Amino acid sequence: MRVLSGTQPSGELHIGNYFGALRQYLALQEKHSEVLYFIADYHSMTSVRDAKLRTKLCRGVALDYLACGLDPKRAILYRQSDLPEVCELAWILSTVTPMGLLERCVSYKDKIEQGIAADHGLFAYPVLMAADILIFNAGLVPVGKDQKQHLEVTRDIAQRFNHAYDEVFVLPEPYILDDVAIVPGTDGRKMSKSYANTIPMFGAPGAIKKAVMEIVTDSTPVEGSKSTDTSLFQLWSLFATAEERREMFARAQAGGLGYGEVKKDLLARLMDYFASMRARREDWEKRPSDLEDVLRDGAKRARAVAAPILEKAREASGLGVSRETILR
Ligand code: AMP
Ligand code: TRP
Repeated sequence: MRVLSGTQPSGELHIGNYFGALRQYLALQEKHSEVLYFIADYHSMTSVRDAKLRTKLCRGVALDYLACGLDPKRAILYRQSDLPEVCELAWILSTVTPMGLLERCVSYKDKIEQGIAADHGLFAYPVLMAADILIFNAGLVPVGKDQKQHLEVTRDIAQRFNHAYDEVFVLPEPYILDDVAIVPGTDGRKMSKSYANTIPMFGAPGAIKKAVMEIVTDSTPVEGSKSTDTSLFQLWSLFATAEERREMFARAQAGGLGYGEVKKDLLARLMDYFASMRARREDWEKRPSDLEDVLRDGAKRARAVAAPILEKAREASGLGVSRETILR
């Protein structure tokens, strides 16, 4: 099965992104022979207008993937704009995409409601996402549930093209990362950049410590019995075995356990858990040209998969010179 997913470069990775998305994506490289991950830099143009920042954020995503265990020999990691053919396919697909389909997209409507001025790119973004997927005829697309509707749009567009021309595109199966528990933030709400309640995964140790110490707790004194159904204990549990969790929760309920002790232990476990990934990230960071080689090689391998599918779509829709004409 061919697996594909894309990540918008949007800043520092937090531990919610890791447990909720990246870890799940990377687990798929063990199970499937063809796995492609790309850095969605064309997509980021709908929100980021700073060229230098985009370049920096894209590099950050590549580093995050490699740090978290992407094996560039096994999986293909590439930068979307190194495969500009997706823009050609996006155009082709846009001509079989009804306006109403895009007008119904919740992510677009949300942004309009937030007062973000709409441009054509923001509106047409699901068509580019469809092209990202269909250019490889990817069978399985892991995404968070906010992207579920875009996958339905992709399937719809694929069907419309196939119906209008020829059976070129495979309808991708969504793999919604829904069953993964939501990681709470330091204020108890879902961890999210927009709530400023994140624990950065590769942040400076001081920043991570500050975030952990800021986890909101109630005022139960040390001796008091404590509820373990809180963000502090949920976060702590991410880094503990079932046995350790039973022990810690029993201590919390019995009283005599201070929140400060739990926070200190959480910080130590967290730093330890991510230590080897952090070291790998630092190592890649020192070798920017090796990083660039990984991305270039990724684009080359991605192109080899995409080119025949795009060619089939061009031929099916009568674009360019047909093979028959060349042979004549
Ligand atoms: P975002 O950059 O917020 O769109 O997050 C990217 C992906 O990370 C989402 O699609 C989710 O699958 C995952 N994610 C983000 N925040 C959390 C969280 N607090 N808990 C679990 N998963 C998360
Ligand atoms: N739209 C996705 C997001 O914002 C990123 C993305 C772009 C993507 N193209 C894709 C994900 C294709 C999966 C497949 O998170």
